[in-house]
Amino acid sequence: MTDVLRAHAEQQHADELTALAKSDDRPRPPHWKLSPWAVATYVLGGEAPDGTPITPKYLGSRRLVEVAIATLATDRALLLLGVPGTAKTWLSEHLAAAISGDSTQLVQGTSGTAEESIRYGWNYARLLAEGPSPKAMVASPVLRAMETGGIARIEELTRIPSDVQDALITILSEKTLPIPELDSEVQARPGFNVIATANDRDRGVNDLSAALKRRFNVVVLPLPGDTESEVAIVRLRVRQLGESLRLPAAAEDVDEIRRVVTVFRELRDGVTGDGRTKIKSPSGSLSTAEAISVVTNGIALATHFGDGVVRADDVAAGLHGAVVKDPVQDRIVWQEYLETVVRERKPWSDLYRACRELV
Ligand SMILES: Nc1ncnc2c1ncn2[C@@H]1O[C@H](COP(=O)(O)OP(=O)(O)O)[C@@H](O)[C@H]1O
Ligand SMILES: [Mg+2]
Repeated sequence: MTDVLRAHAEQQHADELTALAKSDDRPRPPHWKLSPWAVATYVLGGEAPDGTPITPKYLGSRRLVEVAIATLATDRALLLLGVPGTAKTWLSEHLAAAISGDSTQLVQGTSGTAEESIRYGWNYARLLAEGPSPKAMVASPVLRAMETGGIARIEELTRIPSDVQDALITILSEKTLPIPELDSEVQARPGFNVIATANDRDRGVNDLSAALKRRFNVVVLPLPGDTESEVAIVRLRVRQLGESLRLPAAAEDVDEIRRVVTVFRELRDGVTGDGRTKIKSPSGSLSTAEAISVVTNGIALATHFGDGVVRADDVAAGLHGAVVKDPVQDRIVWQEYLETVVRERKPWSDLYRACRELV
């Protein structure tokens, strides 16, 4: 494999996917590379029938992952909903990789997403020279997935203007995309489906129309339920990121991770872990994903500028940056948290000092 900064899931985990495909004798929906059971094993981790260990990708409820996979084996599309950093994009990439062996048919939804990104566009030089022909057509990722019987991914569906979203209705209900310019149509091959993601906080921005909503099964990805499960997620991802960034695993320190996760959870929940002290929440989302980058940054600092052990100093700047998104309001919130909570915890005096220097 060539050296790339970030390989697609199906490249990075090609060995696991091959091992699962080879020994998987359960029934597969048409055109699926794996059975639904093997897809779940790929996502949640475990062992292939031939004994090959499978690393977990998503840590969380098995049932939720099963519901998501089962949906994709029906004629309904899948909508992953949740607050930022709950692994919607992550899960969508891994599901597409395991089911169709291709996670790259991706539409990034923005307010500027045009119908061409969902249907098709034209290569204008060719169109002018030769007139409309299949060769002058530029297929969207959705159209390509229809043609190959694969999975198309649509990120941030609710940021896409409503009239553009509605281009999906015919595709999802008729499984056909008419091409009037060529007097033809593309009919989806078996295996075609769509995984969309949407942010809970965007609700109302471009709400899904009722007609489109009916074409989706919604799976809500929750925030981790307790500190230990969030610590486990951060550890897993920090270790995996560290490997690809060539950061030594030795730098990963569970106690430091637990502190970062505790700070994030308390600020997010607006109350200390023991339930005794109410605190204000900052404006940012303080997601698990941000905890992962605070710790990874800490490891990079400790590796390149320290003695390789992550200490309070190394995470303080990252914490400050994650919490203080609004320079006025959040700074007050952070200061208050430092004085009323961090300062009172004796074993946290190093963290208090390191953070105090920055505000
Ligand atoms: N439950 C989880 N299991 C595994 N990784 C998680 C989990 N929750 C968050 N992450 C990690 O958080 C990071 C960001 O997730 P992402 O998919 O970008 O979030 P979203 O799209 O929901 O905003 C990813 O690196 C992902 O691995
Ligand atoms: Mg996302």
